[in-house]
Amino acid sequence: MSTASSDYLQRIDEATDFVRQRANTVPRVAIILGTGLGKLATHIQPEVTLPYDEIPHFPQSTALSHQGQLVLGTLEGIPVVAMQGRFHLYEGYSSSDAVLPVYIMHKLGAEILVVSNASGGVNPKFTGGDIMVMSSHINLMFRRHEELGGNNVIPLPPDQPGTLIYDRKLIDLALRTGRQHNFPVHEGCYVSLTGPNYETRSEYRMVRKIGGDVVGMSTVPEVLTAHSLQMQVLALSAVTNIAKPDTLSETTAEEVVDIARLAEPRLTAIVISLLRTL
Ligand code: HPA
Repeated sequence: MSTASSDYLQRIDEATDFVRQRANTVPRVAIILGTGLGKLATHIQPEVTLPYDEIPHFPQSTALSHQGQLVLGTLEGIPVVAMQGRFHLYEGYSSSDAVLPVYIMHKLGAEILVVSNASGGVNPKFTGGDIMVMSSHINLMFRRHEELGGNNVIPLPPDQPGTLIYDRKLIDLALRTGRQHNFPVHEGCYVSLTGPNYETRSEYRMVRKIGGDVVGMSTVPEVLTAHSLQMQVLALSAVTNIAKPDTLSETTAEEVVDIARLAEPRLTAIVISLLRTL
């Protein structure tokens, strides 16, 4: 964060102070709920729910099925903060705006980030409704963090290598939870594109060819930020549409939301397993 501008730091401070004035919860875990996955927050025993438009400097959610509120409370007895709705670059946000909440949730106390998304599957072994736990990603978003000094990447502390971003123990915990509850959890690589469109058949082919298992339009900026803050990261992708480039059918946002909702109990089971280890 050495290159972050003082204005950006001030925004983080002011937003954090506001949340602290409203809530006593000191979260250990931050949870970002992606498309169709916001219902997980209903399992939280809330202390306070803050609409994004009340929090100074917080961006506003515009995407379909993103509620736009911050929930602070406890889940399985552990203090958590959850974002019901996130910010995508395709909504027009700068990457610095999109990751601002990660800095705020870290400053509130969170040491672990659980981040979720809906994605399109390009691995032929995947089925709609499966969960993929991210053990790697390919970042094709090509964004600069203007407010963070214009760097191409978020600055990492020198002792924090960029290669092992996804926590092995948390990946194994997600895989184990799937086995215990009898639902499919794959481990794999998420390719991030900016969107706003779902991919063409050629793009889906490219994603598969370069080593991707799923493709989506979020998550990587937040994950990089959390890693730069030395948070442990668990990233869960709800595979919605399966892309078959040779017989491609239209993907709709409604279909993505509907299938992500079906995957939501699986995501909840994994998050609860994680909290029980704390
Ligand atoms: N592509 C990009 N993002 C997505 C998709 C997809 O096919 N499905 C859900 N989010």
